[in-house]
Amino acid sequence: MSVSVFTYCGSFCMSYVPAKLLIWDCGNDGNGLNGYAMNCFYYFRDKSRNRKQRSAPELKEQVKLDFSGAERVTKSSCSSASPRGIPELYEEKGHSLRVFSFSELRHATSDFNRLFKIGEGGFGSVFKGSVKPADGNGNPIIVAVKRLNKDALQGHKQWLTEVQFLGVVEHPNLVKLIGYCALDDERGIQRLLVYEYMPNKSLEFHLFNKAYYPLPWKTRLEIALGAAQGLTYLHEELEIQVIYRDFKSSNVLLDDDFKPKLSDFGLAREGPVAGDTHVSTAVMGTYGYAAPDYIETGHLTAKSDVWSFGVVLYEMLTGRRSMERNRPKSEKKLVEWVKQYPPDSKKFDTIIDPRLEGEYSINGARKLAKLADHCLRKSAKDRPTMRQVVERLKQIIQDSDVEHPADDKSVEVSEGDQVEAEVKGNQSSSSELWKKRMEHLAKLGERVESTSRRKLMILQRANVSS
Ligand SMILES: Nc1ncnc2c1ncn2[C@@H]1O[C@H](COP(=O)(O)OP(=O)(O)OP(=O)(O)O)[C@@H](O)[C@H]1O
Ligand SMILES: [Mg+2]
Repeated sequence: MSVSVFTYCGSFCMSYVPAKLLIWDCGNDGNGLNGYAMNCFYYFRDKSRNRKQRSAPELKEQVKLDFSGAERVTKSSCSSASPRGIPELYEEKGHSLRVFSFSELRHATSDFNRLFKIGEGGFGSVFKGSVKPADGNGNPIIVAVKRLNKDALQGHKQWLTEVQFLGVVEHPNLVKLIGYCALDDERGIQRLLVYEYMPNKSLEFHLFNKAYYPLPWKTRLEIALGAAQGLTYLHEELEIQVIYRDFKSSNVLLDDDFKPKLSDFGLAREGPVAGDTHVSTAVMGTYGYAAPDYIETGHLTAKSDVWSFGVVLYEMLTGRRSMERNRPKSEKKLVEWVKQYPPDSKKFDTIIDPRLEGEYSINGARKLAKLADHCLRKSAKDRPTMRQVVERLKQIIQDSDVEHPADDKSVEVSEGDQVEAEVKGNQSSSSELWKKRMEHLAKLGERVESTSRRKLMILQRANVSS
């Protein structure tokens, strides 16, 4: 195996796993602690690049170049029977993407001012900004601009993959890519992505940020359902199968109504074509979420995403991260820890997120845990498809709607909530109630984050509404 370039962000650890080199980030684990292997592990093959300014037509050329890589060779045995691949679909559908100039995006984010920074991931920083509509008329559009780290030259491949996949897919549960910017000049390379702005951050943020109001039980179920529908679309509803490969709570972004949208398609891959059972790839993904069979063999299937989905279901149930270094040994790995509390056992409720303060359906929680266990079966073929997961989640949501709280001690509504009281008083419909609660949640979030207050003021001054 020829490997000439390795990439990482922040400090990193390397380890040999039979015939595979894994690299994972030893960065912050979200609890303010460094040094635990729990973020991304990647490896890349180097690609020669020319250092001149690139534009959209050249991107297309690059598309062809990059997709001739070794990962496709593994399934080339029956490629003659294969449908069109991502490069062909991109040529057909990718035209709606806008090509931004670097100066346009610099202007949009006040020169990538740190006060506009809304997040940071393995490959770079994300900024809130505002751009003119494509036709130049109307109000500015609020966007999220992801700028790859300058030193993450290897991130180019992920950037390109994201442009191609997001240029082709379209679904209410997938984040919309508005456009991109690619610039190579004497000062180095710049790779940026411009997405629709998701005002309610990520599922990870709401599950694990103790300063924020906890996500209500029902919202968790709806988020799980939306995310599962996004994955089902990728697995089954396109001309080609797409394996997402990086399903985790930080990649589930939340819109105004807390509807989930999957982001980060840098690791996505086309699934196996007819006759093949898997795609052989370099092992990439995020430690704590990647399926063990995929890590061991490098054989990627849609069932690898199903495993990751099971991990996130347990994160939603327990309010714990997939890996937590601060815990005693038996509790560090979420999927290991929960095994001690099977869904039908008496002690099952001890693992439920204490921040729910009992406001959940215990029957629903047991059903959700059983579904998660199903997704986490050791053998990939024993795991459900994402379509089956969607059906099961719909059933669980429906059951919890009809369950009588007294039978089940399920209370999905936070008593004493001021907004709720107002809504009850107005005899509003349940959807209005839910929407108001979500607005309330967002407002609370704004209040508790002291630095964001400062940001808000500056954003307003720059005519970027929050
Ligand atoms: N379209 C968007 N709208 C609003 N916020 C976003 C958007 N995209 C990303 N973010 C914010 O930026 C954060 C960082 O995102 P990013 O995808 O770069 O990293 P990550 O998912 O946390 O980690 P990794 O690099 O391992 O995937 C997200 O958690 C989210 O809060
Ligand atoms: Mg991400």
